[in-house]
Amino acid sequence: MIYLNNAATTWPKPEPVCKAIDDAVRTMSSPSRTHSAEGADTANAMEQARATIAGFLGIDNPSRFAMMPGCTYATNAAIQGLDWQHGDAAIISGLEHHASSRAIRLVAERRDISFHVAPYKVGEPLDLGFIEDKLKQGNIRVVICTMAANVTGEILPYEALGALCKRYETPLLLDAAQSAGIIDFKVRDLDPELMVFAGHKGMYGPTGIGGLYVKEGFRLAPFAVGGTGKDSGRHPMSGKMPSEFEVGTHNAIGIAGLAAGVEWLAENGVAKVRRHEMALTKRFIDGLADVPDARVYGTTDCEQKVAVVSCNFGERDPKQVAAYLSEKHEVATRAGYHCSPLAHETIGTLPGPGTIRFGFGYFNTEDEVDRVLEHLKAMEAVGV
Ligand SMILES: Cc1ncc(COP(=O)(O)O)c(C=O)c1O
Repeated sequence: MIYLNNAATTWPKPEPVCKAIDDAVRTMSSPSRTHSAEGADTANAMEQARATIAGFLGIDNPSRFAMMPGCTYATNAAIQGLDWQHGDAAIISGLEHHASSRAIRLVAERRDISFHVAPYKVGEPLDLGFIEDKLKQGNIRVVICTMAANVTGEILPYEALGALCKRYETPLLLDAAQSAGIIDFKVRDLDPELMVFAGHKGMYGPTGIGGLYVKEGFRLAPFAVGGTGKDSGRHPMSGKMPSEFEVGTHNAIGIAGLAAGVEWLAENGVAKVRRHEMALTKRFIDGLADVPDARVYGTTDCEQKVAVVSCNFGERDPKQVAAYLSEKHEVATRAGYHCSPLAHETIGTLPGPGTIRFGFGYFNTEDEVDRVLEHLKAMEAVGV
């Protein structure tokens, strides 16, 4: 199989990640809930993993980072936990994933608040002038922005956005699902109030693990409550990070795998991984010039994007192209709307069939890219 669905989840996982998961499942029980030497080891390993992941992301105080069952869960915790007041509004980019766009819609329905979608154009994926106008109105509870778009791969101007939010003293929630481990940023430099990420994409960890960063001093109410393994004899939650957001038994196996993914990345260097992925992306985009009717959405400037390419091929249904690649050539992609109808509306592919998305990862090769291009060129001849 040629796996080009790395924007959904990176695959395969590096060997040390597989080994860490295998070791964890054999050796770990429930952290903070087992009175034994092994239980203490599990709890220590988890805190060590937290420090490793926090260090990698540039989070100076690891206790400001809560492990979550994924980026979607973390985003809900961030958005639903805000201190929403009647008359509040939010600003979101036009390229948001369901994780944030559905969460803000839910809050809008339940709390009677509104939200603005910032205009987009190719080469300027976030209209900062529009955002500044809205910030001036003074009722913006939060600005929500993905750092890199999962449909088009475009990198949004998150640094300039951060500066703007600071100027208007408005909290910023950054979605790092498509950028953690992919773009070499540090949380301490960006200094957002809230950041969420997925462990199973660019961080090369397993599925079912992600994280929520909450800036020191920023108050977020818990989105879910339950046992934390701490303060067990009290009815109320402790109100302390990170346990306030880590309810239920931890995914110790996932956390061990994510820490191993981060260690593998740190050893290889994020820059080296990105260089490889972007070289493949450029090769693919350049090669599409020879594929009849190919149209790429969003920027084709590889400096301005991550290794994600969304395309269409003339009038063909992207799902039909994906089925052809999968069934005839064992090429894995993803076609349709990629859990981002907002992004597809923004780029003009909804209404319409969406796109077929190619996502490149560290384990892809030039030869794979060339073979996929050949299969695409052959579509006409084989009646696709
Ligand atoms: C930009 C973005 N945000 C959030 C998510 C949600 O991540 P998860 O499915 O791991 O919860 C994704 C996943 O595709 C994403 O691409």
